[in-house]
Amino acid sequence: MSIHFGVDYYPEHWPMARWETDARLMREMGIDLVRMAEFSWQKMESAEGTFDFAWLDRSIEILARAGIRVVLGTPTASPPAWIIQANPEILPLDSRGVRRGFGGRHHDCQSNEAYRVHARRIAQAMARHFASKPSVLGWQIDNELGNSHHDLCHCESCRHAFQAWLRAKYGTIAELNRRWGTVFWSQTYDDFAQVPTPAANAVNAHNPSLHLDWKRFHSDLIIEFHDEQAAIIRREAPGQFITHNLMGFFDLVDYFKLARSLDFVSHDQYPMGFFDRPQPMKDPATLAAHLDLMAGLKGAPFWVMEQQAGPTGWSILGKTPRPGQLALWTAQSIAHGADAVVFFRWRSCTVGTEQYWHGILPHNGLPGRRYEELKACIAQLSPVMDDFRGCLGGSEAALLFSYEQNWALEVQPHHPDLDYLQHTMGFCRAFHERNIPLAFISGSEDLARHRLIIAPLLFLDLPGLAARLTAYVRGGGHLVLTMRTGVKDQDNLCQTEGPLPGPYAELLGIEILDYDCLRDCEERVECEGTVGAARLWWDVIELRGARALARGRGGDHGGEPIITEAEAGSGRAYYIGSELDPALMSRFVDHAAKAAGLASLGPSAEGLELVRRRGAEADYLFALNHRGEGASVALPPAWEAIIGSRDLPPYGFSLFRSERTEPRPRPH
Ligand code: GLA
Ligand code: ZN
Repeated sequence: MSIHFGVDYYPEHWPMARWETDARLMREMGIDLVRMAEFSWQKMESAEGTFDFAWLDRSIEILARAGIRVVLGTPTASPPAWIIQANPEILPLDSRGVRRGFGGRHHDCQSNEAYRVHARRIAQAMARHFASKPSVLGWQIDNELGNSHHDLCHCESCRHAFQAWLRAKYGTIAELNRRWGTVFWSQTYDDFAQVPTPAANAVNAHNPSLHLDWKRFHSDLIIEFHDEQAAIIRREAPGQFITHNLMGFFDLVDYFKLARSLDFVSHDQYPMGFFDRPQPMKDPATLAAHLDLMAGLKGAPFWVMEQQAGPTGWSILGKTPRPGQLALWTAQSIAHGADAVVFFRWRSCTVGTEQYWHGILPHNGLPGRRYEELKACIAQLSPVMDDFRGCLGGSEAALLFSYEQNWALEVQPHHPDLDYLQHTMGFCRAFHERNIPLAFISGSEDLARHRLIIAPLLFLDLPGLAARLTAYVRGGGHLVLTMRTGVKDQDNLCQTEGPLPGPYAELLGIEILDYDCLRDCEERVECEGTVGAARLWWDVIELRGARALARGRGGDHGGEPIITEAEAGSGRAYYIGSELDPALMSRFVDHAAKAAGLASLGPSAEGLELVRRRGAEADYLFALNHRGEGASVALPPAWEAIIGSRDLPPYGFSLFRSERTEPRPRPH
């Protein structure tokens, strides 16, 4: 299957007479694929059991004649009005007890059995109908699962599902009481049926253990909702793949878990942000990190199922991408591991909420600047993509990314500004600036593949992890841990076994005897001659074998160690007892990268990103100029320019190739 570029297409929004023109324009542009139908429930099933796939068949045929293949979405992100009328209990209940209504999308309770019946019926009918269509390659179940569900759902069905999940986890209510510490405030339960959801009607904050389990349950519920449809499609259409359009750092679903039932993951990449919130454009390092997380979920290339194709916005608009930017972002997605890029959307819509979320074509359907820019980009990239299909760029360093740590810190952030993703991005940004690849891992992989692992904010001591990380270091790995490590057990209770950082104290050669939440203040710190600020938190560290790499300077914590380094076995372990500003982070990452022997892909320059992919016989290096002025990149002569050159225009990219003499190190 050689699919490189696609578009998200909604033929039902346009007269049939236009469909041939669309297919021709797509073909001329180099489009291989469309994704369709993920919001078309009413058009496919206008009353219970009354299916009409003829319009979709027709569209698929027209596209097939133009050589364009199809991914179909099951439409469960937008249940039609007749379903809601028949089963109003499907409408979700928010945390304030407000029943949400019909009128947007995602107005569904994912545990509701009536809704599951409807979802199974449409998934089965679609899968059965399209299983034998040769140009239907695969499926996307629902759309951006979890999207809009942050405050949902607290209905009776979800409460019962939560209670059943707890019963399966804890067995007896006595065990739940013990592990949640419900003795506090007389919250001891006699029965699972008494356990509430963490709705906003509680007079005070909920038990943190309950809250964390609710987040785990909620993620599992969404995955179960997905997997139920996946099982139907696997049964009915075994030759077709299943993927899902994930949302980068979106935090409601443990994407490592969701990815298990996907053939490959997909991702929606909108550099200029979402919805009505006027947002600053995401910086290139954040965009890169979203993509690297996607590559990390299965340790494999992925698809972009929605790539920004024009100005975004619902009722408020984002900025119009500058000439070159759409192509640049496309190249960035491919550089970080996308094997195919599908643009959202083919044509700007004249109806509905997303009239200003612009597609490749403007409202009038005439090819213009965006069409020409992306057509040229496709013509450049398409011919080289097969050589690196299936392979990532490889990395010697990894970041351990944990949904559970994030959830626990969302429940108790300590400092109002502490944010797991921002803390994590501090490291990503420093690696990005240095053009040192940093893979995302869950921690369950073979750790020894990496020379350096950064595992930020290991707040919860999750089963087995400390032993694995300790063995990794003793075996020669370098490990970076940060503030609030080892504070809690897996149930979100404070651990009492010895000094902080709990199971890592000995490995790190430190003890934390006290700490200080840095409210409305920062501490000056010196690290190997660089002075910068440490923020949010200060661990008061006693050295028990480690050396101080950085200490406080003046202020409340002058002279106290705040970054430590220790040898352990044949490896090395660092601890950072605060959140570092960019200057300190840079200094620290230089130190740690050098000690671990990490190689950079090339010289650093502001806004110029270098990313590698490995192919069958050659390595490929993308140079991406994220700035509105020209740039040049000094690379060794072995890198032959196959797209562009060493001089890059504003928002331009180049691609270099280098024949490899030694075999490819790893499959990815
Ligand atoms: C998301 C959805 C799309 C569309 C875009 C724009 O990415 O998956 O259906 O709504 O946002 O809002
Ligand atoms: Zn519900």
